[in-house]
Order: sequence, then structure tokens, then C-alpha cells
Amino acid sequence: MSVPNPPEPIPGARLLFSLDPAVSHLNHGSFGAVPIGVQRAQQRLRDEMEANPLRFFTQGLVDRIAHTRRHLAGFLGADPDGSALVGNTTTGVAVVLQSVGLKAGDEVLSTDHGYGAVSLAIQRECRRTGAVSRVLPIPLAATDEQIVQSIRAGLRPGRTRLLVVDQLTSATAKLFPTAAIVGVAREHGVPVLVDAAHAPGMLPTPVAGIGADFWVGNLHKWAYAPRGTALLAVAPQWRDRIEPLVVSWEQESGFPARLEWQATLDYTPWLAAPAGLFTMRSLGVDRVREHNAALAAYGQRVVGDALGVAPADLPDPGGPGVALRLIPLPAGTGTTIDAARALQARIGERLAAEVAVMSWSGRGWLRLTGQVYNAADEYERLGARLPALLAQR
Ligand SMILES: Cc1ncc(COP(=O)(O)O)c(C=O)c1O
Repeated sequence: MSVPNPPEPIPGARLLFSLDPAVSHLNHGSFGAVPIGVQRAQQRLRDEMEANPLRFFTQGLVDRIAHTRRHLAGFLGADPDGSALVGNTTTGVAVVLQSVGLKAGDEVLSTDHGYGAVSLAIQRECRRTGAVSRVLPIPLAATDEQIVQSIRAGLRPGRTRLLVVDQLTSATAKLFPTAAIVGVAREHGVPVLVDAAHAPGMLPTPVAGIGADFWVGNLHKWAYAPRGTALLAVAPQWRDRIEPLVVSWEQESGFPARLEWQATLDYTPWLAAPAGLFTMRSLGVDRVREHNAALAAYGQRVVGDALGVAPADLPDPGGPGVALRLIPLPAGTGTTIDAARALQARIGERLAAEVAVMSWSGRGWLRLTGQVYNAADEYERLGARLPALLAQR
């Protein structure tokens, strides 16, 4: 079967970024990339801060943060006053885990598609409280219906105090039917935390219609915000109960200011984040999404072909707009976290291509992304050179 055509490039988009042109940047998913205009917006804010730190911090910063949060929440379809800015998804997850009141005998249910650091956070909170962590296996090829069925069967009403699910998974690049999962959990009285690290900028209004108790997503991946920008949306019944990790001067102001004011910090990533949305809008939000998803799908086919993977064996993300794609690596390659990390570094050094190598369910996977700064020939070059690199032991 022939490889479909790549999407038309978005003219001028590559010039919006300061990425090293000698490298193919095919892993936007891990740490994003900040457009030059957004970097400049943040630098102007830093200049303002350094011109008069006292005035910057004491005159109007809390309101500026609230104004920014409302703007970002509107883009995501979240309640502007039912959300709080946090530094990253990991922090949002930690805030939720320590706020839900876990106790001995409770259980936190998650899936084997969850993010590693989130699993570690669940395990630590369980150790601290005497709760237990249970991880549900879900096959990579499971349909939405099968996922919902597995979760329905996995819930233990009265014991499961929190269900943690990903909206779009990291290791397996799979869309989960989050709204349906939340519906099932609600029938059983189980609160749900949605890890939506990749959703902002990738999925349209990802918070709207989900109905989760907690939803947290990064704007510093696909929404072009400076690093350190994430939004935690909290359902009304939890807002009085949610506690920040660090108690500071806005503690008595309640939600969300008590979460947002975390003492002396650099708040300029948040204030500059709307410039990221401006960049997306100037290129066309839907056009960016469609381009990125189509380019990632193209890259998956090109590199999959080069590795001799049949198109039917290339995992499908299960919905439109997903700009993360997986390719199975040859058996025995990248099967442990250490082996995956070493291979990722070797591909970066030897092929001048930044990719993600994941080990999941006992096998290694290459994860490629598509972004407006990428071109079809970057995947073609990787495909041409990767088999020889993998053949060297
Ligand atoms: C699914 C998922 N959850 C959580 C995170 C953590 O994000 P951060 O490092 O910004 O906290 C990531 C990062 O890639 C992720 O993919």
C-alpha cells in the first residue's frame, strides 16, 4: 500500500520558532517548543519585573493572573472561575491527590496507559495514607466501548476513592473516551481526575462536556505557552476542599487564588501564555490541528514502512486531531525504560533527530509528533537511516 501524501506546509510557520535547524524536532510532545513571539512577550514581562520587582509583585499581579486564567480557561472550555493556573500537570495531579482525603483501605484506580510520574505520585500518596493503588490493564487496540466496559468492571464502589485516566495517553498516543468514563464513574459515585497533559491546543475545548471532578492539562505542550503553564479545572463540589501544595499569602482567599499564589516565583510564563494562543490563532487553530495530525500520520507511515511494519500494525489514536503517533520497534529493542532512553539519546546523537522512545507493555515504541515547524522530508530522512542504526547492537 502506498504512503498517502503529506499535508501542505503552513507557509512561514517554521520561522516562528528558534529551533536548531540542524536537528529534526519530532518530539514536540515531551517539552513543547515556544514560538519566538511568545519568548519575546515573556521577556518583556521579565523586563517589567526587573525594572521594579516590588511594584510588579505587589500591584495588580494577582488580578493579572486571574485575568490570564480566565482567558486560557475560555480557550479550553473550562469554567474561568472554577479553574486555577498551576505550574504543570504533575503539580496539578499532586494537588488533587493530597486533597481528596484518601485513607487506609481506599483505592486509587488508574490504567496501564498512565504517565510514569503520575503513577509514582499515586504510589507515594497511597503509601502516605494507607490507600492502595490498582492499575487496570487496557489493551492497546481496545475500542472505546471496551475501555468503558473494563473501567466499569474495575470500579469497586465504596472502595475506589479516585479514578485517574488520561484524555490522550503519552506512552501509547491513544484517545480515551473520557466523557463516557466519567459518566460510568459518576454512576458508581467515584470521583475522576483526568490527566489531560496533551489536550490543550490539540483537542478542541477539551474540558467542555467531560464533567470530571478534576481535569489538568498543560498549555506548554501544544498551546505554545512558555513552560510552567497548566490549568487545573475543579468541579464545584471540590473547590472548597482543594488545598495548594504550598500555603502562602492568598490562602484565606480560597479557590482559585490560594492555588495560584505560590509565594515568590516567576509568574511570567502564565502572563505570556495568551501570546501562545495568539500564535495558534494567527495560523488558524483548526488548520494547525489538522496539519499536525496529518503530518504525524504521514511520519508514522513513512517510518513504519522503513521498519517493515504493516500499516495494519501501526496503532491508531482512535480519533481525529492527534499529532502523536506510535511505531512498534523490532522485537527486543527498547523494551525497558533504560533501553528506551538510551536508544532515544542514540537516535538524537547519531541521526540528529529528536524522537521519543517508549517502553510499554514489554515492547519498545517510537513516538513521533507533527508540528507546524516540521516537514515531510524529516520523517523520510529518519526512515532512511533508522533501520541501519537499529541493526547495530
Ligand atoms: C500524560 C502526561 N501526564 C503528565 C505529564 C507531565 O507533564 P509535566 O511534566 O508538564 O508536569 C506528561 C508529560 O509529558 C504527560 O504526557
